[in-house]
Amino acid sequence: MSPLPAPVIGPILILDDVAGGRMRLSALVLSEGAAPPPPVELETGAVALQALAAWDGVTVWRARFDRPADRPSSYRWNGTDHALQGDLTGDLRLAYVSCNGEEVGDLDREGSERNAMWARLCEAHRRRPLSLLLHGGDQVYADEATEGHELSHDWPARLPADPSAAALAGLRRHLRARFLARYAALYAAPEFAWLAARVPSLMQWDDHDICDGWGSLRRSRTYSPVGQTLFAVARESFLLFQQAAVDGDLPARFADPAGLHLGWAVHAPGLRLLAPDLRSERTRRQILGPGGWAMMEAEAARPAEGHSFLMSSVPLLGPRLSLLEALMVAIPRMQRYEDDLRDQWQSRAHRDEWRRMLRLVRDLARTDGHDITAVSGEIHLATRAVMDLGQGLVLNQLVASGISHRAPPRAWARVLGALAALGEDPLPENPIRVARLPGQRSRYIAERNYLLLEREGDAWQARWELEASGLTPPLAL
Ligand SMILES: [Fe+2]
Repeated sequence: MSPLPAPVIGPILILDDVAGGRMRLSALVLSEGAAPPPPVELETGAVALQALAAWDGVTVWRARFDRPADRPSSYRWNGTDHALQGDLTGDLRLAYVSCNGEEVGDLDREGSERNAMWARLCEAHRRRPLSLLLHGGDQVYADEATEGHELSHDWPARLPADPSAAALAGLRRHLRARFLARYAALYAAPEFAWLAARVPSLMQWDDHDICDGWGSLRRSRTYSPVGQTLFAVARESFLLFQQAAVDGDLPARFADPAGLHLGWAVHAPGLRLLAPDLRSERTRRQILGPGGWAMMEAEAARPAEGHSFLMSSVPLLGPRLSLLEALMVAIPRMQRYEDDLRDQWQSRAHRDEWRRMLRLVRDLARTDGHDITAVSGEIHLATRAVMDLGQGLVLNQLVASGISHRAPPRAWARVLGALAALGEDPLPENPIRVARLPGQRSRYIAERNYLLLEREGDAWQARWELEASGLTPPLAL
């Protein structure tokens, strides 16, 4: 049986970089066997696809090419012309999505229900084309990949003490097949496929692209042979399927060509997209490592005009979760949830680092003629928060999650709403408050959702598309 739901999947467009007035793009195609798919056709000629990897009888192909970044354009593949809204110089709109899946049984969900918000985003693109599609983490829920293999089926609860090299090679094959099958299913979904061929994507990973809580698990798990094999395959899959790249040829937007961390930045006219990697260097005691911090410091020192969007896969601003965490440490049955909270910036374990990041963002926001907004997913709710930066400045935190992950019970949204009333001020002079979406009465909206970010003139605004409540009025940024 073929591991692919269709003989050919793609193209999925990835924005490699913006440079010299051009969009540098990659088109990703998956196909059965080794016969090359047709090339990308441009008015300047054809661009052949190169094989990046062959897993399980499937070849992963990529073509790199340029399109203008100052006007609309198009490309042709396999008999279809795809228009691109490539003008990044003037009015534009971007979409932000996160959490495209669920931990259990995602591959068995009925497609039209699962992808209802993707279908709505396709409609939004038809009405007014999107220039870019930002994916803020959990593009794939790989949690079930560890099932069905003797070394990993009890991950992370129980692990073999001393697996042989041959057994680990078997695990690698197993995991590659499972990751491939999940990405193939996601990319073959008609709604996703239609949009991803027409709007270049930028992707940042979060834990489920690896496994639940990666980086916040105990060292005995993370640094075990099974844990390291899992990370290696997840990373290889992330590069292939989410970046159309392999080690050694990362696109220029990545800060570390060696990929020890996978943070990146895109600089377009009046627009910076900044995506630190909150997973590769994470441990139970740190979120970013030396590489991630070096990238953030370098970006903070760089002159930037217009608006920066800081993609923080885990929300940078939120309610006082440290109270909940203290409670959970005290109750043995709740310790699983303690690990979940440890994964947040607000965890007591990360307090100093959280302050460091907030100070850096505050200094960025105080730069003349420059604004910054944090965008995040992760919590499967829609919400927002505001940090008062003084001097009449604020940091807006927008949270949009998930596009296909269903919302948790409303009771959980109410618990968070109650915690939010307590406030949290890691920088005492810069209070944070959790705020309501425009037109909404609760602080946390338990509906599937995505976010639209729109620039008109120099002014940016955000609107959430909520599954039941519809499009919110705009929030000025
Ligand atoms: Fe998620």
